[in-house]
Amino acid sequence: MKLICTLAAWLLLGASAHAVDTSMAERTRACTHCHGEQGKAGPDGYYPRLAGKPEGYLFHQLQNFQQGRRHYDLMARLIEPLPEAYLRDMAQYFSNLHVPYPAPALNATGVPAAVLARGKALTLNGDASRGVPACVSCHGAQLTGVAPDVPGLLGLPLDYLNGQLGAWQSGQRRAHAPDCMAQVVKRLASDDLMAVAQYLARQPLPANTSPASLSVLRASNPSSTKQQVATDVRTGAMPSRTMGATPVATTWTCGSAPGVVGVLP
Ligand code: HEC
Ligand code: HEC
Repeated sequence: MKLICTLAAWLLLGASAHAVDTSMAERTRACTHCHGEQGKAGPDGYYPRLAGKPEGYLFHQLQNFQQGRRHYDLMARLIEPLPEAYLRDMAQYFSNLHVPYPAPALNATGVPAAVLARGKALTLNGDASRGVPACVSCHGAQLTGVAPDVPGLLGLPLDYLNGQLGAWQSGQRRAHAPDCMAQVVKRLASDDLMAVAQYLARQPLPANTSPASLSVLRASNPSSTKQQVATDVRTGAMPSRTMGATPVATTWTCGSAPGVVGVLP
């Protein structure tokens, strides 16, 4: 606790006194104490990586912890007094740190092939029968995320993935409304969530781990640009896919990533 107080003092110094010449690396020492040197993640997969994640995404998470949409007391207390501009500065700082990712710690053994196949199908195609778009339709074809607001899904430890999907399932984690991830998670069975986490945690990272740009995402989701009726996913109702005889693509909007549109297969 004493340590946290000392670290908090560093942060506050940075927040209040711009005249004090403290570098961002020094000011964020409180953060890297848990999140690892340069925000490359803690040693055991519990403290998530920050380095290189999309800037808007990191900023939204800081707001989520500050405003009670995500919960981790020790960290929330640290950032509670910080002004929005400082949260943005920290998000930008960590987003610009490019630290290589380690190879996935898991391999294809230890889990039934059918589980990995289900996880792969959900990732690449979604599940139309449950009204769930493919993960790649929002997280990018390479799953490295989409700048500035959508995180990548590779390089995340299995426990962290399970923890986050479980937190959405139980309502412990929320994003800015409409919370599209909450809808994705609610529509999937627990087995499906486990399968997709098992699959993702085993995928190697591509050579270029930078988040994709929105224009690339749109080009790979051609139907999202057509003029079609969007079903409102805010209600949580199962989308209707037909209107008369014409199939209607159901587009999804995310409050935390306004530029991104997930589309049903
Ligand atoms: C006491 C340890 C601790 C400290 C100090 C700490 N964090 Fe965290 N942070 C965590 C944990 C644990 C999580 C994951 C919580 C969860 O499971 O949702 C987290 C999550 C995050 C996330 C979300 C990451 C993601 O990919 O969704 C961001 C962003 C973040 N922290 C930034 C910071 C910043 C910036 C600081 C310094 C001001 C900081 N943290 C200080 C423990 C800490
Ligand atoms: C409609 C778009 C959309 C679809 C489809 C989607 N996601 Fe997401 N996902 C998001 C957004 C936006 C966020 C960031 C939410 C926030 O700001 O907290 C996110 C965040 C996440 C996170 C948190 C990552 C972290 O570092 O904490 C996980 C895990 C995740 N999604 C998994 C999935 C999986 C698995 C699928 C497919 C079954 C999927 N998502 C489909 C939009 C989507």
